Amino acid sequence: MRAKLTMLALSAALGVLAHAGAALAADPVKGEELAAMWCKSCHVITIDQERASADAPTYPWLAENRTTEALELFLAQPHSTMPTGALTPGEIRDIVAYIMTFKK
Ligand code: HEC
Repeated sequence: MRAKLTMLALSAALGVLAHAGAALAADPVKGEELAAMWCKSCHVITIDQERASADAPTYPWLAENRTTEALELFLAQPHSTMPTGALTPGEIRDIVAYIMTFKK
């Protein structure tokens, strides 16, 4: 019992560490690659891309009008046309880091 509790505490602590590490390592370059793969068909993901889908907000617009927290929260939930849970928490942070590179 004691050993099991210790293991639980340990894995919880490791989980927190891993989370902090991943947050620090949010990688906008990887985010751009993911966006080009998964989001570009609907969202304008660069400054000069031609309009994709009329009702999907552009990334530069999102950067000016949404916070990092709001975007991460949004992407953690099922997205209109995207399959639920398609993105891992790390991928979400990378994509949001990329979106935020457009903030002036
Ligand atoms: C099939 C089209 C489609 C794809 C693919 C798509 N989106 Fe969207 N997205 C939309 C539409 C339409 C909206 C606006 C309606 C809504 O908010 O659901 C939207 C809204 C959003 C928003 C705005 C939320 C807000 O705060 O208003 C974010 C952020 C977003 N998408 C991110 C992404 C990311 C990141 C990807 C790729 C991983 C992606 N989308 C892929 C169609 C798409």
